Amino acid sequence: MTKEIIETALKNVIYPGFTKDIVSFGFIKDINIAGSVVTVTVDITSSADEVASQLKAEATEELKKVGATNVTINIQAPKMPRESSSKGKNIAPQVKNFIMVSSGKGGVGKSTTSVNLAVALAMQGHKVGLLDADIYGPNIPRMMGVETVKPEVQGNKVLPIKAYGIEMMSMGSLMEEGQSLIWRGAMIMKAVEQFLRDILWSDLDCLIIDMPPGTGDAQLTLAQSVPVTLGLTVTTPQMVSLDDSRRSLDMFKKLNIPIAGIIENMSGFIAPDTGVEYDIFGKGTTEPMAKEFDTKILAEIPIEPAIRTGGDNGKPVTYFAPDSETTKRFMAAAEDIWAQIEKINEEGGVDNQAIQPTTPPGVSACSTTAAPQESSGSSCGCS
Ligand SMILES: Nc1ncnc2c1ncn2[C@@H]1O[C@H](COP(=O)(O)OP(=O)(O)O)[C@@H](O)[C@H]1O
Ligand SMILES: [Mg+2]
Repeated sequence: MTKEIIETALKNVIYPGFTKDIVSFGFIKDINIAGSVVTVTVDITSSADEVASQLKAEATEELKKVGATNVTINIQAPKMPRESSSKGKNIAPQVKNFIMVSSGKGGVGKSTTSVNLAVALAMQGHKVGLLDADIYGPNIPRMMGVETVKPEVQGNKVLPIKAYGIEMMSMGSLMEEGQSLIWRGAMIMKAVEQFLRDILWSDLDCLIIDMPPGTGDAQLTLAQSVPVTLGLTVTTPQMVSLDDSRRSLDMFKKLNIPIAGIIENMSGFIAPDTGVEYDIFGKGTTEPMAKEFDTKILAEIPIEPAIRTGGDNGKPVTYFAPDSETTKRFMAAAEDIWAQIEKINEEGGVDNQAIQPTTPPGVSACSTTAAPQESSGSSCGCS
């Protein structure tokens, strides 16, 4: 038995999901031969258990074919950074990473993007939660096909609803259909906190948060309650949408939230019959803004009827049309986002300590005295 024989045999083992073998990939780190006893050490790039066990079985079989009697395959897989290295306040500590999805305007595809990125990340093997924090317009239950499902209550906490391998919670699931809510700022802040603290999220790799449009109380409360790992903004290519998106990006900067990038949605139209792509709202207009904020376009998502019907019927396109152009783009964006999350955690994570409120609890930020004696008018000018 020689090293050459072993290597030739191992060339028959194809790396799962690829067309190349593990020798050509350069994954074989060490071969030890003692008579017919062979020990091989393999370094792989996937941390999935299925990949390791499949490789072990196939390599053992190939080596036995060439006369090895006793085979040991040591597989060294990288460790998934399931732990977050983020610091500061976190009222949902079982969640490792938080992704804030924002937009300047409503109707630009923020919820569509949140749903499809959540599905894409789940399909790529991550444990994903999806929080619909758009308290005024909670659309996620319909888009996830669970608009009639009421969540289970456990004690004074609520279990998230499960769909497509994702844990989901929305104000829409907690109130009666068609009800409208009139919220004051303080109530929005409370609601965001309760969504994080009182929902029984399991140990999630990431929680995607679909925010209300704009830059207001909900955004600030979220950033102060949990360390937000990444923010991304969704825009359409028209200038009027871009103007508002600039405010979202500026908010991320002020809140020390790393910017993942921009999703340019409704970027061109792909005709379902011919597959030809047409430019409707403009395309590529987002690039200069990305440069200005030192970030990138994560994906250009075309207008596709399947996206709208998928949303209305609760069948996300990324799940139901895996071969579509839109799915490919969401999948690529999800991979990019995950790579950014890993990098941020390797480099020490995010920290929200600098943006905590400076006033003691129970005291309004505009009070000039620590303990207001009476309401004899406010001297700071705000009411
Ligand atoms: N790329 C797209 N192609 C076709 N329809 C889309 C696309 N993006 C969003 N839509 C549809 O546009 C509407 C608004 O999108 P939505 O995600 O609810 O926006 P937002 O959350 O920003 O208000 C929805 O009906 C959705 O299905
Ligand atoms: Mg929405």
